[in-house]
Amino acid sequence: MKEKHNPLILALDVPKREEALALVARLREYVGGFKVGLQLVNAAGPGILDDIRERGGRVFYDAKFHDIPHTVSGAVAEAVKHRVWMLNVHTLGGVEMMKAAVESARQTAAACQVARPLLLGVTVLTSIDEETLRLELQVEAPLPAHVAHLARLAQQAGLDGVVASPQEIRLIRAACGEDFLLVTPGVRPTWAAKQDQKRVLTPAEALQEGADYLVIGRPLTQAPDPVAAAQRLLQECGQKLKGTAHATASGTGN
Ligand code: C5P
Repeated sequence: MKEKHNPLILALDVPKREEALALVARLREYVGGFKVGLQLVNAAGPGILDDIRERGGRVFYDAKFHDIPHTVSGAVAEAVKHRVWMLNVHTLGGVEMMKAAVESARQTAAACQVARPLLLGVTVLTSIDEETLRLELQVEAPLPAHVAHLARLAQQAGLDGVVASPQEIRLIRAACGEDFLLVTPGVRPTWAAKQDQKRVLTPAEALQEGADYLVIGRPLTQAPDPVAAAQRLLQECGQKLKGTAHATASGTGN
């Protein structure tokens, strides 16, 4: 069942544990979760996943696992022990790998008596364009069709949703239905700089398109007053959340 939720996930793209934890302390009341990616986990070690949870933050571990099923199964089991809220794998690892991730998460969560994390798939990285896909990677299908195909495979394998660029939300929502979780980076409020993000939607637009969660980094972390920026963002989302079909998302919570 979908429930009302805070759609903001703060990307903790910082190289230091102390810096990350300062942001958690400052913003945990204003965001629905914190994304920990490969930079922070390699700088601070996997204990950072526990540190954030112990300070009241839910963790989206942006691990992007992509390996043989056995190896991914073992990596997922270790991530589950850190009681992460969300975790992702590459859909290009194939259905068997994704199924192994789902089964490992289920079994480990049951054995450790913790909530099973939401498992997301990464389809085609937004750094890959049509030309790279066709000429370099020799994928003949058009990019949107390939993304929709990978999202459907993720759903068939039992994943809870995918990470989707703003351009892909509507397409994947149509392909995979209302209950599939869509987490969207590349979001910029009109009052924030775009930085290196090129094709952006505002938070309200992304929610309107059908996103469940918005991954936002620098508009909050580099704001002169991050709390005021988060409140402003939430207000914008709240206005659009009222009465829209995608106002809420499922989650096991932690
Ligand atoms: O600072 P900013 O809001 O641009 O951060 C967005 C976050 O989402 C970063 O952690 C970035 O790596 C991630 N991301 C993205 N675009 C994608 C996939 C992930 O910006 N297509």
